[in-house]
Amino acid sequence: MFILEQGCARAMSEIRFVDRNVELKALKEFCSSFRALPLYVYGPEGCGKTRLLKEFINLFNEYFGDEGIAIYIDALARKGIDEAVMGSLNMDVKALRRVALEAIKDLNLPLGHALAESIGSLMDMIAEKLFRRKLEDKYVVIAIDDVVKSIGMNEVEKYIKWLYETMWKLSQEYRPRALNFIVTTSEGQSLELISRHRHAGISILWNLDRKSFEELFHELNPPDDVDYEDVWRLIGGNPGKLIELAKKYSWNIDMWFKSLLRRLRPLAFKIASRNLTEELKLLIENPDNTWHRASPRMEELYRILVNENLFMYKWHYTIDQREIPEDNSIGVGRYYAWQIPAYREALKQLVED
Ligand SMILES: Nc1ncnc2c1ncn2[C@@H]1O[C@H](COP(=O)(O)OP(=O)(O)O)[C@@H](O)[C@H]1O
Ligand SMILES: [Mg+2]
Repeated sequence: MFILEQGCARAMSEIRFVDRNVELKALKEFCSSFRALPLYVYGPEGCGKTRLLKEFINLFNEYFGDEGIAIYIDALARKGIDEAVMGSLNMDVKALRRVALEAIKDLNLPLGHALAESIGSLMDMIAEKLFRRKLEDKYVVIAIDDVVKSIGMNEVEKYIKWLYETMWKLSQEYRPRALNFIVTTSEGQSLELISRHRHAGISILWNLDRKSFEELFHELNPPDDVDYEDVWRLIGGNPGKLIELAKKYSWNIDMWFKSLLRRLRPLAFKIASRNLTEELKLLIENPDNTWHRASPRMEELYRILVNENLFMYKWHYTIDQREIPEDNSIGVGRYYAWQIPAYREALKQLVED
């Protein structure tokens, strides 16, 4: 009964899930054996990391039958346990959430943060109370969403190392068929910290491709006068931004773009005051100029843009082991990219103003 309730509640509140078939397949493959390293998934804000994880958790028993145990934790959750914890459909979600609350009862931290810090004891309690310690035939995955925003940039290195050790410890203790961790973040700065060590495998989730994005575009019933090409040229496949345009701005592209200009003006000021406008023009021309025209000033600008989540280093493999194709028409270079082309366009207009 709980399965139906859970499934329906989710289905009603959300827009139909589009594509991501290769990513789902790759995640399934990843979870089919013990991988030794947590998977660290990084991608632009709004590209669909959370949604992909949740869809994956819902499909987990289709993939691994009743042997599949998948747990999702929103490390940013502050209020209710219902938004913070989700389980695969074969789990008694109420019992799971009860156990989760018990595991963190002595921690004086925001809910999601406390859960992220308690993965080891949480897993022990789940094993004990929900599975009578019998996990030998199970495929287990724990997904921790938005980890850096929750625990903070200064803690992320330590946290990932701890997660790695916890994964090994749990695996040795319960000897399941597979036990893996997936962690996500939008914070580009964290990537350098993580890639310095060998405690996580980094992969990227990028925005939707042109075809899937068009499918989502039509799914949202745009008015006839909204041209898909205009939207693609500004939003470049980012589902979160498309939904924002449709719902919050009622498809008024002009208003949406003007509000972006307003948001980015102080940043343009910061860049101009630091004398980095020429470097910015070079990145507007080609994001790979980060590398081709490298200099201390270019590095300074790069860090500013990465911290603002506007720009990113993209020369990692995607979850399904591809490289994100280069396409300068939407600001995506070989090594570096604008998270969405509108950021490039807005900064261009602001510096030319
Ligand atoms: N493949 C998809 N199909 C339909 N909607 C999607 C898809 N990916 C993301 N979305 C929607 O776009 C919005 C932003 O996605 P989200 O997963 O929150 O992004 P992120 O976690 O990467 O910041 C959400 O409303 C989500 O439901
Ligand atoms: Mg998210």
